[in-house]
Amino acid sequence: MSMHTFNVNGQKVTVETDDDVRLLWVLRDLLGIHGPKYGCGLDVCKACTSHINGKSFNPCSVRVADIKPTDQITTIEGLPATVGADLHPMQQAWLDQDVAQCGYCQPGQIMAAVALVKSKNGAPITEADLDGIRNICRCGTYPRIREAIRQGAAKM
Ligand code: FES
Ligand code: FES
Repeated sequence: MSMHTFNVNGQKVTVETDDDVRLLWVLRDLLGIHGPKYGCGLDVCKACTSHINGKSFNPCSVRVADIKPTDQITTIEGLPATVGADLHPMQQAWLDQDVAQCGYCQPGQIMAAVALVKSKNGAPITEADLDGIRNICRCGTYPRIREAIRQGAAKM
């Protein structure tokens, strides 16, 4: 066991655990942050999608020892604070489009959507961009996700 320090949702945290433990389990089991969901643990389903230093990543596939003390992790719980509001525009778009069905994949979908829009630096979101989001939804909410991303992008 060793100590690991980094930042989550604007707060510095220190946890004691083995180096090889994946960050998803640190977030969920040690820090009680349950927005990032467990689906596959293999960087395939994308249910755990969160941000590291503003970019999309999958904490199920990153060892806690590979997170640097200066790294800023953002989960869906910390997303509204990044815009200083109760809801991020992408979350509002999700509500307006009534996207969620069971909801399990949706935190990851929203985090992937926000990272995509940021990466475009104001350029229009294309069909190819939307095709590039690989987050799996077992409920098949993909058409509403695509509409919500377009709406959210317009407000970001
Ligand atoms: S649980 Fe992380 S990608 Fe599936
Ligand atoms: S809403 Fe059920 S898995 Fe996506």
